[in-house]
Amino acid sequence: MKPMKISVEPGDITTIRVDAVVNAANSELRVGGGVDAAIHCVGGPTILAETRRIRIDQYPDGLPAGRAVATTAGNLPARWVIHTVGPVYSTREDRSHVLESCYRESLLLAASLGARSVAFPAISAGVYGWPINDAARIAVSTADGLAEEVGRVVREVIFVPFGEAASAAFAWALADLDRLRKG
Ligand code: APR
Repeated sequence: MKPMKISVEPGDITTIRVDAVVNAANSELRVGGGVDAAIHCVGGPTILAETRRIRIDQYPDGLPAGRAVATTAGNLPARWVIHTVGPVYSTREDRSHVLESCYRESLLLAASLGARSVAFPAISAGVYGWPINDAARIAVSTADGLAEEVGRVVREVIFVPFGEAASAAFAWALADLDRLRKG
């Protein structure tokens, strides 16, 4: 079986046709700004209705950073939205493991749903302040590290950076990965 494909498609994640779109959410699972706002705006009210249900039934104290939950994708060209809460960047504390967890938990959840393609934004690299180059490195290396475990189901991971700097960061991280894979 060919290895899980990892690619970069700069642009607006709400236009990407995949099985699962990952949202950079907040713990309250309410509509914020950035990619969260875009997903809710295009996806429509059914997404928020399901996140409200999840809050009541499973996470009354909020979805912890690093965890992931799935809802309908509403009007998005996708079947699911996977909501994950990124860590807020800190210069005092290394929270890389929490950011890695966002990608890992989202991919494991996507595989359990049967999603064959997953699109990610640059989690934590906006409002939460994570430096984009490091955010891209963590994203690409975490996805590659999970290829064995989820690759039989998730056949493709697409990173969707927004803007010039993010696009360059992900292109660089992917080129680094290809160099590592070639040995
Ligand atoms: N498509 C793809 N990427 C996007 C889009 C879009 N339509 N809109 C924004 N982005 C990019 C940002 O440029 C950034 O690189 O998504 C990345 C993540 O930025 P945020 O959306 O701000 O997410 P994050 O940094 O994880 O902060 C999460 O912000 O929006 C609120 O409710 C959210 O409180 C939460 C916090």
